[in-house]
Amino acid sequence: MNLINRIRQFRAIRPVYEEELNDRVRSIAVIMDGNGRWAKRRRLPVAAGHRAGTRALRRTVEASIDLGVESVCMYAFSTENWSRPPEEIEALMEIFVESIDKEMPELVRQGVRTRFVGRRDRAPTRLAAKITELEKATSGLDRLDLWIAYDYGGRADIVQAARRLVEECIDPLDIDENAIAARLYASEMPDPDLLIRTSGEERLSNFLLWQLAYTELVFLDVLWPDFGRRELSRALDEYARRRRRFGGR
Ligand code: IPE
Ligand code: IPE
Ligand code: MG
Repeated sequence: MNLINRIRQFRAIRPVYEEELNDRVRSIAVIMDGNGRWAKRRRLPVAAGHRAGTRALRRTVEASIDLGVESVCMYAFSTENWSRPPEEIEALMEIFVESIDKEMPELVRQGVRTRFVGRRDRAPTRLAAKITELEKATSGLDRLDLWIAYDYGGRADIVQAARRLVEECIDPLDIDENAIAARLYASEMPDPDLLIRTSGEERLSNFLLWQLAYTELVFLDVLWPDFGRRELSRALDEYARRRRRFGGR
């Protein structure tokens, strides 16, 4: 086969990206970082920072709806965050339970379908029950898809997808990118167009490793509890200035 024909063959197997012009952000992912530093600067306990972080999450959900975003994935707790002091983890789990209780009516009213991404088996019983309750209460809604990454790790996500392929006795020749993507925790979540990380850190910290392959990355100096509509809008403007290429010309 000559080279041109071989190239045509490669083109045929290249993943098809739905839209190569970034006219509008449909799907975003956010690493909500900086709660601890926000609290420290105010000489407050770290839990106060996490609590302030939940208010920033509420503002972000509202602004996302207004700005026409369809899907938002928020990194709330990583598989590595279990290594934090037990008192901080305990406070954080309590804040998750309280926030679900507090936010549920508003999420329902606003049409926000909320789903959790990550492991469920290590959540405290009360939290696990709240997660199920929230997912059920919002399951029929479609104004915004909100994904909460809880006990989530990008590597753990790929590992469990691999495990499922083996459990299903899939023929190795049938394993392609679609087969893996279909077995990730949130197989229905669109790959993010834009990833925002607050707090000035510029790393992924094990978030959505598979899904971020061609995502535009924006790192902001603001701490997460200070994030709101203006910061989201700025990140979307920055995205609009980027040119996505997906490896092409
Ligand atoms: C992010 O804020 C929230 C979680 C990881 C749960 P941090 O708690 O990591 O805040 P910093 O990075 O210490 O400031
Ligand atoms: C990432 O932030 C996890 C979440 C925001 C939930 P971390 O604060 O845990 O990440 P590192 O430790 O700075 O990389
Ligand atoms: Mg941090």
